[in-house]
This record gives sequence, C-alpha cells and structure tokens, in this order.
Amino acid sequence: MQGNFIYHNPTKLYFGEESLKFLKDELQNFGERVLINYGSGSVKRSGLYDEVIAILREGGKTIVENPGVMSNPTLEKLREGVRIARDNKVDWILALGGGSVCDYSKGVAASAYYDGDYWQAFWLEGQQPAADQRIIPVTCILTMAGTGSEMNGGCVITDAEKNYKTGHVFDSRLMPKFSILNPRYTMTVPMDQMKSGIYDIMNHIFEQYFSGEDDNTSDYIAEGLMRGLIVASRAAVKDPQDYEARSNIMWTATWALNTLIKCGKRQDWMVHQIGHSIGAWTHAPHGYTLASVTMAYYKRAMQYGRPKFERFAQNVWGVKSAEEGLEALKNWMKEIGLPLTISELGANEAMIDDIVSTTNIFPAGYMDLKPEDVKEILKESL
Ligand code: NZQ
Ligand code: ZN
Repeated sequence: MQGNFIYHNPTKLYFGEESLKFLKDELQNFGERVLINYGSGSVKRSGLYDEVIAILREGGKTIVENPGVMSNPTLEKLREGVRIARDNKVDWILALGGGSVCDYSKGVAASAYYDGDYWQAFWLEGQQPAADQRIIPVTCILTMAGTGSEMNGGCVITDAEKNYKTGHVFDSRLMPKFSILNPRYTMTVPMDQMKSGIYDIMNHIFEQYFSGEDDNTSDYIAEGLMRGLIVASRAAVKDPQDYEARSNIMWTATWALNTLIKCGKRQDWMVHQIGHSIGAWTHAPHGYTLASVTMAYYKRAMQYGRPKFERFAQNVWGVKSAEEGLEALKNWMKEIGLPLTISELGANEAMIDDIVSTTNIFPAGYMDLKPEDVKEILKESL
C-alpha cells in the first residue's frame, strides 16, 4: 500500500428486507424536530412515505416536509431547503429517496448554519465547515442503488443558471449517521434509472482502480466488486424483481464508494467531471453521462497505464490483452443496454465547446488532461 491515510466511516447501516423496523429504535438518538426531504413522488406511490410518517409520529416527532428534491438537485432548491431547515429549527434530517435526495440533505445540513456564501465556500472553493460550525445530523432511507451517497460525504449540486454541476466531498461529519438499505425499495426504480445506477457503481470502481502502479489491497477488493456487479447486473436486467441480484447491486454500490477502495490510491475522477458537465447540459441520468464517454476515455488512458488495463482484462473479464479487456467492457455495456455515445443523450457537436467550458479538470489517474483533450474525448464520443 502506498501513501498515508486515515480510514474512518461513521455511518451505521441497516440492510435487508426488514431493515425499516430499526428506524423506531434509532429515533431516541435524535431530536424532536425532523426535516424529511424527498423527491417527486416515488416514495408516496410505493407507500414508504406513509410507513415512515407513521413511525415518526408514533415516536413523538414533529415533522417538517420538503418535497420536490429533483434528480440532480439544483442550487435554487438547496437555498430553499436551507431556509426551511433554519426557519423550522430542525434537529435532524431524514433523506427519503435516491442519491439526489441524500446528497441534497447533506448540502442543507452543512449550509443551514454557515455564516456566509455556502455555495462559494463549499462547492466552489472546496472548504470544509469550520470545527465549531453547527451541522445538522443527516440520516437516510435509500430507495435507489448507485451513488454510494448513503455512506459517504459526497454532495453534487447543479447551478442550473450557469449549467454548472459540481460536487463536494464533505468530511465524516456529513456522512449519514445511519442509512436504511432495503433492496425491495429499489424494485420500483424505472429500468433506465436502474441501469444508470449500475453503471454509476461500475464507474466509481474504475475511478479508484485505474490509478497507481503498486500492488494494493484496494485493487483486489475493487476487482471482486466488479465481478459481482457484472453477474448481478445481467440477472437484474433480465428480471428486475430478482431479489438476489438487486440486493447484491445495492450492497456493491455502497462499498464501491464508501471511502474503502480509495485507500492508498491516487484515483482519477475525470470521467465523472466530464459526465457532470454533460449532465448539466443534457439532464441525462448521471450513470448514462458516464457511460457515454467511457470508451473514448479509457482507450486514451490505456496508452498511459497499460499494465493496469491488462490486469483489468485478466482479473475481471478473463481475457488476455488490455484491448480485449476494453472490448469485453464494451460488450457488457451493450448487453445491458447502456448508451455508448453522447448523441444518445441528446448532445451534438455544437454543444461540445459549452460542455468543455463547464468541465472541472483535475489531475487524473494515468494522464493529465487539458481542455483540448476533453474536447477530443467528447468528439470521439459523438
Ligand atoms: O424523485 P423521485 O420521485 O424519488 O424519483 C427518482 C428520480 O426521478 C427515481 N426513484 C428513486 N428511487 C425510486 C425511484 N423511482 C421509483 N422507485 C424508487 N424506489 O429515480 C430518479 C433518479 O433518482 P436520483 O436520486 O436522482 O438518482 P441517483 O441515486 O442516481 O442520484 C443521482 C445524483 O447523485 C449524484 C449525481 O451527480 C446526481 O446528482 N452523485 C452523488 C455521489 C455521491 N454522493 O458520492 C457520487 C455520484 O458519482 C454522483 O455524482
Ligand atoms: Zn457517480
């Protein structure tokens, strides 16, 4: 293992079909006033909302509601949530939904008592809240597998006016205090969102795996997660009601981005930066934006990190050369029905300069990109 790191993840997980029953016991650990954030209605249609409200009421909690958290939550909506949290003096937040609602809840929790421009401080400058700043505890009941938000500090927000989508990884104070993961809840997720989530998981693993040359325990764990995900994704696409597959996908999503497999890794994250920018301009599901530039990106990265791509081919796909490994990846993506081009998401050549202009560029895994390189990757992905 290279590098020095601290591993600390305070999120408690309740997993399985009976996991909601633990909500009642958890209530004693939190204050009286709870803010529940949720999306555009899926939790009401599924009946989960009613179940949760009943448990909260029985536990004597005062409920404040903030519905309408959209997929890829906006800065405007964040500002609304901050006002609601502050005006109602909420003691804690319960996110009820997918990665968007969970991310959003962290954003509200960190910003409600920040004295100043939180967007500038946290998202544009990457600061962490001061040690003495009040932070509202966040908890989560997850309904969609993919982002890993249920056990990390990530919070991605879109400034819709500027078509600028950017993430901030908050420190462990913003990780959910607990998350309830019931794979049954994910069974009503629309097919497109399920596939988007599956590729999001895969790409989170890639972003951490494709970096570094040392023999590293994190990479062996990553390979196991990838292999399991490939098996489960095939089964889930064939039969979305397959509990075994859906439960494995949900658990893999959590471990793919809960701070474990990044230990000792330089990491990449440029597919995500380009994907965020594509998402800001096309509003496509997050995982699809990542899939759409995957082949162009990794073909280029392979030129700089060939040994790792050979290892990927052999240990994940059971083929020999780096090229065959990427071909196997492409075939799997086609098989489960993921988009392989940005055109499929509604992007065209005329939009490329705009997408490049809002792409954050950070040091990557094996190659460092300039805006011209991002432009070429996007053109190759048309
Ligand atoms: O709004 P509702 O009605 O809840 O509908 C949602 C939404 O339309 C629906 N859905 C969720 N669970 C459902 C369901 N529909 C039926 N049944 C259910 N059980 O699915 C749609 C998508 O939900 P969303 O939460 O937006 O998806 P996802 O979990 O993929 O989250 C995407 C957001 O997370 C960010 C993305 O950028 C994006 O903003 N990410 C967060 C990360 C993190 N915290 O570390 C990392 C990721 O790379 C990602 O960037
Ligand atoms: Zn992602």
